Amino acid sequence: MLAFAGDDGISVPERALFIGAQPHPALKAWPTIVGWQPWKHFATGWEREGFFRSDPLPLERWPLVLVLPGKSRDETLAWFAAARDRLEPGGTLVAAMPNTAGAGRFEKQLKNATGNIVSIQKHKCRAFHAYENGAWREEIFDEWRALGEARKISGFTVKAGIFSSDHIDPGSQLLADHLPAGLHGVVADLGAGWGFLSDAALKRCPEIQRIDLFEADARALDCARVNLAHHDRPITCHWHDVTTGLSEIYDAILMNPPFHSAQATDIDLGRAFLKTAAAALKRGGKLLLVANRQLPYEAVLEANGLTWSKIAEDKTYKILFAGKI
Ligand SMILES: C[S@@+](CC[C@H](N)C(=O)[O-])C[C@H]1O[C@@H](n2cnc3c(N)ncnc32)[C@H](O)[C@@H]1O
Repeated sequence: MLAFAGDDGISVPERALFIGAQPHPALKAWPTIVGWQPWKHFATGWEREGFFRSDPLPLERWPLVLVLPGKSRDETLAWFAAARDRLEPGGTLVAAMPNTAGAGRFEKQLKNATGNIVSIQKHKCRAFHAYENGAWREEIFDEWRALGEARKISGFTVKAGIFSSDHIDPGSQLLADHLPAGLHGVVADLGAGWGFLSDAALKRCPEIQRIDLFEADARALDCARVNLAHHDRPITCHWHDVTTGLSEIYDAILMNPPFHSAQATDIDLGRAFLKTAAAALKRGGKLLLVANRQLPYEAVLEANGLTWSKIAEDKTYKILFAGKI
């Protein structure tokens, strides 16, 4: 998407920072580009293509900062503010996004904050950039910066852009309400988000010895560390793409599997979670999951050698418990 950024008169400086970095062949010609990427699979792809990745987001200033959108409006605006904070005086902020991600609206908002914008529209996407000229409306960037800060919901720490950042997911709540108190041993929480299910399991199940959380979104995992810090049993947090499998086996696995990639439904992602879970369960182990009722997960459980039963359902969700014999 950013491949044509240099075609419209943007000077291409030696150094650039890329927030939400994803690899593209056109970037290979760049002298020095540093990427920051909170999603594990994109971060892996970026490094696999030979680009340098920084974690955390570096604090120094750059002549050019590129931004791809986050998952939510607040997160994208917070990334604009993060880009602004890292721009050298006179530097350029470039953003690119599909129209379906709200490109027109974000372009208007950035123009309102910077007073100048140059926009290119191609392939149902917009790339737009603004020059820092000392006249940007800093009060708008202050508001956007605040949108990216950690906040509390029902006593839990969350951040914009992570899953269920403004309410507890009702499907996860239904699973939490049905967790058997006798769950024991070493447990994995796949796609753990900010730690709701792990917290519920630790509260309800005194015989759990340890919980390992696996989550691809580094910001969600940071929140989970905070949300679970008060528990006295061992907890490990893994920044991990669950679809690549796990290296240990478990007495029990909990999950509310994702079924969206970007904005699109991706049932294969949910299926891949089930497959990983089936392979990572001990004999006699239990998989406890919640899913939207229409998702065809029962056949996936059977295909992966698990027996299952439906423990509960409401008008939206079903709770499935599966076992490995
Ligand atoms: C439906 S949410 C459930 C979150 C949390 N367990 C809860 O109940 O609130 C699914 C989670 O899976 C994460 N996720 C998506 N793709 C992933 C992947 N490939 N590997 C690991 N986690 C992933 C998402 O970031 C999200 O936090």
